[in-house]
Amino acid sequence: MTAPPTGLIAQSQADLLAVDATYLWHPWSPSRVSPDTVVATSGAGCEVFDADGRRYLDAKSSGLNAALGYGCQPVIDAISAQLSRLMTYDMGEGSNLPAIELAQRIAGLAGPRLSRTFFCNSGSEAVEACIRIARFYHAVLGATERTAIVSLENAYHGATMGAAACSAGSSPVAPEVAPTGFVTVPGPDYAAGSGSGDDAGIEHLRAHLDEHGPRTAAVIVEPVQARGARVVPDAYLRAVRRLCDEHAVLLVLDEVTTGFGRTGRMFAHQYADIQPDLLATSKGLTGGYMSLGAATTTPEVFDAFDRHRGLAGFVHGHTHSGHASACAAGLAVLGYIENANLIANVRARGAQLLGRLAELRDVPYVRGVRGRGLFVAVELDSSRRAGQVRRQSKDEGVLVRRTGASIVLAPPLIITAAEIDRIADVLVPAVLAGAELSY
Ligand SMILES: Cc1ncc(COP(=O)(O)O)c(C=O)c1O
Repeated sequence: MTAPPTGLIAQSQADLLAVDATYLWHPWSPSRVSPDTVVATSGAGCEVFDADGRRYLDAKSSGLNAALGYGCQPVIDAISAQLSRLMTYDMGEGSNLPAIELAQRIAGLAGPRLSRTFFCNSGSEAVEACIRIARFYHAVLGATERTAIVSLENAYHGATMGAAACSAGSSPVAPEVAPTGFVTVPGPDYAAGSGSGDDAGIEHLRAHLDEHGPRTAAVIVEPVQARGARVVPDAYLRAVRRLCDEHAVLLVLDEVTTGFGRTGRMFAHQYADIQPDLLATSKGLTGGYMSLGAATTTPEVFDAFDRHRGLAGFVHGHTHSGHASACAAGLAVLGYIENANLIANVRARGAQLLGRLAELRDVPYVRGVRGRGLFVAVELDSSRRAGQVRRQSKDEGVLVRRTGASIVLAPPLIITAAEIDRIADVLVPAVLAGAELSY
């Protein structure tokens, strides 16, 4: 094998892709990149630039995480200052200032009951921590048989073993290594919308818990499903909360994608006016500037561990749990969201986006146009057609995400009205052009 070439930044997009194809293994991808892959070399605001200087409006916020767009100076400055002062300090035997401050800040935003945060590095790890906390919780209370984790069909909760096991259909775990104790039930009637009463979907969960409640540790739900931006009706979420209470089962809400303003509230579950027992967050918390995940829980859950010190407590953690510079990024991001009044922007721009896409509802091969805030999807009748729309949009300078047959839009929370128009001006014709499948 020859030595890797150096000075990559000076190379063209095509040259970089050739090196990429030789050395990189991309997540969630076939093993090789395509000529279509964007090698981003810089970014500013809602735009990224490739190695050939082409500019793209990033309507998917990188991996739904670049919530403040690119080059947000106050966040960069906060990270840089923290790196100079103390890049991190171990949370296993010690603590550090940004982690303390960020945990307190999250409690203020997620409260009143959600007041205790465990930090990790990603959304999957946040979900994994919630699963483990839920199981340990019942175990320390003596209910060792309560181990099952119930999730909804079509859910996506992450790529680590437990998180993948509660992502039936979207994140297949090889059967020979799949952990046991994970159950999937059909979800709500997503088409019912946010204002409806209980729907038939809740009966699946009710029937399941009536039979298996005493062996169930937790139910996990995304308030808006990452795969296709399906909005879980508020009434369904409230009914899930009631059922969990009736069966002494913990409710985990996965707000890895929806947390920190993405849907037009700080957390999407606030629309339903409920609180979970465990809340998993990540992406928007640091806006992609650093890697951080959080599992936030209630005093009741935490105190159960505290009262049972003899049982060794919660035996779980990571070297980078509460990484000081990542937590400094989180503090700066949350400050920016508040100071720039971004949640109001999300509501206005989200309504504008859904309004502009409304005309697609009548297209015969469009199965749905839906979303909440700046988390929106256009579902088509096939993933092939969705792939074509994604490619055409990219060719015209707008990056969207394809998940199955859905085109998912989640632009940075800072997006302007003119940029929303630009997304719609490209996407609507691309969907209409999808009548002719050409790929
Ligand atoms: C709802 C949800 N949960 C969990 C995850 C996993 O997060 P990560 O990719 O940071 O591990 C994702 C990522 O897309 C997600 O959308």
